[in-house]
Amino acid sequence: MKPKVIVYRKVPEQVINFLNEKFEVSYYKNLDTEKYSDFLQELHTAHGLLGSSLKIDKDFLEQAPNLKIVSNISVGYDNLDLAELKKREILATNTPGVLVDSTADTIFGLLLATARRMPELDYFVKSGKWDGRKDEDLFGVDVHHKVLGIIGMGSIGNAIAKRAHLGFDMSILYHNRSRNEQAENEYQAQYCNLDELLSKSDFICLMTPHTPETDKMIGEREFDLMKESAIFINGSRGKNVDEEALIKALQNQLILGAGLDVYETEPISKGNPLLDLKNVVTLPHIGSATTETREKMAILAAENLAKGLEGETPPNLII
Ligand code: GLV
Ligand code: GLV
Repeated sequence: MKPKVIVYRKVPEQVINFLNEKFEVSYYKNLDTEKYSDFLQELHTAHGLLGSSLKIDKDFLEQAPNLKIVSNISVGYDNLDLAELKKREILATNTPGVLVDSTADTIFGLLLATARRMPELDYFVKSGKWDGRKDEDLFGVDVHHKVLGIIGMGSIGNAIAKRAHLGFDMSILYHNRSRNEQAENEYQAQYCNLDELLSKSDFICLMTPHTPETDKMIGEREFDLMKESAIFINGSRGKNVDEEALIKALQNQLILGAGLDVYETEPISKGNPLLDLKNVVTLPHIGSATTETREKMAILAAENLAKGLEGETPPNLII
């Protein structure tokens, strides 16, 4: 009998065709509440799981006694309880590499959009308020030649530094667990401690994964250290930030603005004060979301899954 695989996110047809050749495939284009109980039923006999963001912890795994591999269609894997997976000898994989440039484009675009107030101005034009008399109310701040501080200098941080240095003549400061020689040599990035980065940067871009060490790493103290003219960009995980402190910093103008792709809870809840703040630009966690890149991620994730179930080492093994 073929091993059984559950795909729980919409993926390109070619991915399903590829998997169908090797496995018995159950395909859920999404997991709404209606379908969730069917999914849980099937989970009991599944050997492989392909998708993203689903919280896979002890309770979940109790219902998946035959599981051999969890293949995430994402670079982040904070949805996975790695210790619990390891204990059960279940493999886990992610999709680094293929999403680096698309994500860097999004996050740098978010920085530009926030600095130059593009969503607000788009609304201004479309709502018929452009009467040609009040230009100065529409001014933003420059991005070029400013200081960009990047917290978390992995491959995406590095690609953001490249855009900033080569395209916008920005000076780069960075903080990371280890030194990044490429960023230092090619983009003149300067390594510094977190407090120095926070107090010297005009733009602060948070790109670190979410771990117990980075949980709420940016809070009241950190916003206090930032310049009043600083713009804070979060392209990592919402839980890396104390969201209440961020809201206070924005409301009290301790910083100039924020560009956010991620939130403490996603989707963001209706009453969240961030939604009422003019100096905030919001995106719906779409860092890597282009047609081309999401296709590459899904293919890579399917290859990881197939290798794992065929007894080989998947190329992007996390554990
Ligand atoms: C997106 O946030 C990812 O982890 O790929
Ligand atoms: C992803 O590739 C990262 O920046 O760690």
